Amino acid sequence: MNQESNGEFSVARVTRAWYVACGSRELRGDPIARKILGIPLVLFRGPDRKPSALLDRCAHRNAPLSLGRSVGGRLECAYHGWQYDAVGVCVKVPGLVGEAEKTTREVPRFPAREQDGFVWVYATAGVEPAGEPYRLPATSRGYTEVRRTVEVESTLHAALENALDVPHTAFLHKGLFRGVGRTHRIRARVTRSAMQIEAEYIGEPRPEGLAGRILSPSGGVVTHFDRFILPSIAQVEYRLGSENHFLITTLCTPVEDFRTRLHASILFRTRFPGWLARLILEPVALRIFRQDAEMLKRQTAAVRRFGGEHYTSTEVDVLGLQIWQLLKRAEAGELTPSEEWKREIELDV
Ligand code: FES
Ligand SMILES: [Fe+2]
Repeated sequence: MNQESNGEFSVARVTRAWYVACGSRELRGDPIARKILGIPLVLFRGPDRKPSALLDRCAHRNAPLSLGRSVGGRLECAYHGWQYDAVGVCVKVPGLVGEAEKTTREVPRFPAREQDGFVWVYATAGVEPAGEPYRLPATSRGYTEVRRTVEVESTLHAALENALDVPHTAFLHKGLFRGVGRTHRIRARVTRSAMQIEAEYIGEPRPEGLAGRILSPSGGVVTHFDRFILPSIAQVEYRLGSENHFLITTLCTPVEDFRTRLHASILFRTRFPGWLARLILEPVALRIFRQDAEMLKRQTAAVRRFGGEHYTSTEVDVLGLQIWQLLKRAEAGELTPSEEWKREIELDV
């Protein structure tokens, strides 16, 4: 192991929180397996079609319940056919004369909700959730929404920072987005509150990259916000001229310490009809995403190879440290409104 290794990894496990477990459409007939914060879960639909989430381990002989099937809103284990109801109580033991129900035959249940086309699971079993899942921004007339789900090999923190990080765009995505033409000095107004951190970039001219030129050939000014909202939401908002508006909300799910699933809702209105804008912008967006995913994978591999991280930050890394602080506080259950402040910095983009 390298002598500079400190064994530190930016892994925060915020367990008292809602995460997207899957899309509503992924959960139809038979149960499916998902993982959140390394916890194996089985998802299925109860008799009323509402989603249920149980620990993916049969109380009988540890068989994964996700190998089983749904029988009239119950989950039947594939091994000996024990059946569980929507709250994880064993209600049938084939061959057993007498009552099936007994507390030792229960499986831990995680609160579940269906909202905005996603199945959300609270990452602590057997408790009353503190609050409800995040609500996605509503779509309105003239807007198109595209959804994408992808997995990246990185910690939740690295994935969030990447989604909200401005300086890398001029390098990793050179020409696609930023990194063409001269740089401009702009201001970033950073606002921190108990549950979120937001950066507003002021005075940024239209990006010179391909996407910017297509959207606003005559130039114009960008209004740009980057937001991190606890526990795992990255939101980027751009307005370019009066016609173009993008609101990209990425609901991140920490699958394991170094694996994060991103559920992105891309809501936009441009000077083009929705289908045309999608046709033009999707290949660019996919290229940008592939570059990010590849870099996150390499970053994770490097951190693991060295047995820990070595981070150095400057003022230009506007949100990374703040995201980390918020995650650590949420993990420890220490969020307080006294954390509210505003500050401004200058940077060249
Ligand atoms: S292991 Fe599930 S019924 Fe036996
Ligand atoms: Fe990026």
